[in-house]
Amino acid sequence: MKIITYGAHDDELPYMTQWQARTGHDLEIHTQPATVANLAWAAGCDGINLLQTTPITREMFETIAKLGIRFVTIRNVGTDNIDLAAARALGIRLANVPAYSPNAIAEFAVTATLTLLRRLGESQAALDAGDYRKATTFIGRELAQQTVGVVGAGRIGREAIRLFAAFGARVLAYDPHPVQDSSLACAYVDLPELLAQSTVVDLHVPGIAANDHMIDAAALALMQPGALLINTARGNLVDTAALIEALKSGHLGGAGIDTYENESANLLALHEHGKFEDPQWDTLRAMPNVLLTPHIAYHTETAVQNMVDFSLNYLVEFLTTGATATEVHPREL
Ligand code: NAD
Ligand code: COI
Repeated sequence: MKIITYGAHDDELPYMTQWQARTGHDLEIHTQPATVANLAWAAGCDGINLLQTTPITREMFETIAKLGIRFVTIRNVGTDNIDLAAARALGIRLANVPAYSPNAIAEFAVTATLTLLRRLGESQAALDAGDYRKATTFIGRELAQQTVGVVGAGRIGREAIRLFAAFGARVLAYDPHPVQDSSLACAYVDLPELLAQSTVVDLHVPGIAANDHMIDAAALALMQPGALLINTARGNLVDTAALIEALKSGHLGGAGIDTYENESANLLALHEHGKFEDPQWDTLRAMPNVLLTPHIAYHTETAVQNMVDFSLNYLVEFLTTGATATEVHPREL
């Protein structure tokens, strides 16, 4: 099979060349994310493999369809940036990697929580300002004494529940479609109750339109004074303006934001222009009780290898059998 892959990160390259050597398929690797223009490179290929957080648009699917290509796999979980309706209308079948390592993201949510509970950002900021004494004044909280509310008890949320419970935290969960799993040490409650009772609120829901700004000013007001908000899921879930207000007023104790609301091609190219013109980003960056990370919750060796191997295997399966188990079906639209 001839497969073209776009958006290859440096740390994916060895896994891609190993996969190629192992399977004997012809893999053309590009580091650039796919665009309408560069999808012309896919002419003559059997299938396309992608990884990008920027939009995968109707125009891109039209270009793919014109090339006669019907199968696409993405190397990641979230499909919120993809015009799935256009893909379906154009007869293009798409599969994702729903579970490359849910543990990677769950561990990161715990890492962010511990970092904020122990106020490491504030202590580091004081040290950076040369004030050793002040750096010793930020008394922390212990995870074992917290009530953690996990919003979205899917693959990642359930791993997070296991990890937080293992630290001794009391864990609440909210999910409109809870999976019955008696090994999970959590109590399911509704969202207002979760927000009201939790000292840490941890989001693991998809960035679908229905979840836009699910954490808005009203939701933040329900949260406990001093509570932490952790978002490793998608930027659109949190109303950033309201979050900044809640942090400025001191109502929220801190926030861990791996997926920023205005994550865009511009933010991703920060290294090229050295500047990202976004006052909300600057405001959050200046707050030592905010841990801003550049969408890296997934980023472990295990996860990256699985993203590459699984997505390429699913594409070969698509191409050889016409089906693969992780196809994103129309009912999920
Ligand atoms: P999943 O589909 O297994 O689980 C999502 C769960 O959220 C489902 O159980 C669903 O019922 C629930 N849900 C949907 N809307 C909800 C709502 N309004 N309130 C409560 N629950 C709701 O998905 P997953 O594998 O657990 O991944 C979750 C999200 O994590 C992905 O959609 C993706 O956006 C994000 N993600 C981020 C990273 C990262 O690096 N930061 C990596 C992978 C995935
Ligand atoms: C996902 O898998 O959905 C992520 O958010 C990870 C990222 C590399 C796109």
